[in-house]
Amino acid sequence: LEEQKMILERNNFVDIKQITNDLKGSPFEGQVENLKELAQLYQLRHSGVNEIGTKLENLDDEYSMNYDHNPIHHMEERMKSVRSLAGKVVKKGLSMDLDTIRKNIQDIGGIRVITNYIDDVYRVESALTQQSDVTLLKRKDYIKNPKPSGYRSLHLVVSVPVFQSNGVFDVPVEVQLRTIGMDMWASLEHKLRYKTNVPKEKVDEHAGNLKEYAGELYNIETKMQAIFEDLQG
Ligand code: GTP
Ligand code: MG
Repeated sequence: LEEQKMILERNNFVDIKQITNDLKGSPFEGQVENLKELAQLYQLRHSGVNEIGTKLENLDDEYSMNYDHNPIHHMEERMKSVRSLAGKVVKKGLSMDLDTIRKNIQDIGGIRVITNYIDDVYRVESALTQQSDVTLLKRKDYIKNPKPSGYRSLHLVVSVPVFQSNGVFDVPVEVQLRTIGMDMWASLEHKLRYKTNVPKEKVDEHAGNLKEYAGELYNIETKMQAIFEDLQG
């Protein structure tokens, strides 16, 4: 029987028409000379996400063929909302023009790669970045150096060529890699961070516990990985 396995869900892909609509009435309206060009930038970044997504799917396939192990548990893609793009432009003190956005904002298109084990994060990173058409632009290892919150993940920005009808363009894509455990932790911590109706003392207490649990999770994942490796031989 055929096995169904979700890797990168391609059926709820960003709707460029939706983004074009979101741009109207956003802080970009009247600032960016041509909203169509901003929509085109989204489309290009999205193609970059597709290219990287396919590369990662192919790597996972190959690992499963040759090593009888799937490093990737699943992947998620996200396009930065128009609202948070505007927020970031303001926060960084940049102007709202397209060339500035193109040059300075590298995470309009992003992929989150959830791996089974910690070593898989680095395995996937190295197999992706050693490809001749992939360039590593930025790397932050919050696994080796966790954030004060306890947050762990490997953040990369890579660039990949995208072929369009009007030429070839190097497109930056943000790739966040983390284990299932780190992902579970980040989802809960994110929830705590954005819940506004929780009293401060309670938030602090939960945050303190979460920081401690992040370390415990890391230890457990390390030990489980050792069992897995022992069984793999
Ligand atoms: P920017 O250029 O501002 O995007 O910098 P950056 O991408 O280097 O930012 P950073 O590496 O701090 O992290 C960006 C993303 O990582 C956020 O949007 C979150 O998804 C995630 N992240 C970072 N820190 C935390 C954290 O403490 N908790 C959680 N839950 N997520 C975090
Ligand atoms: Mg970012």
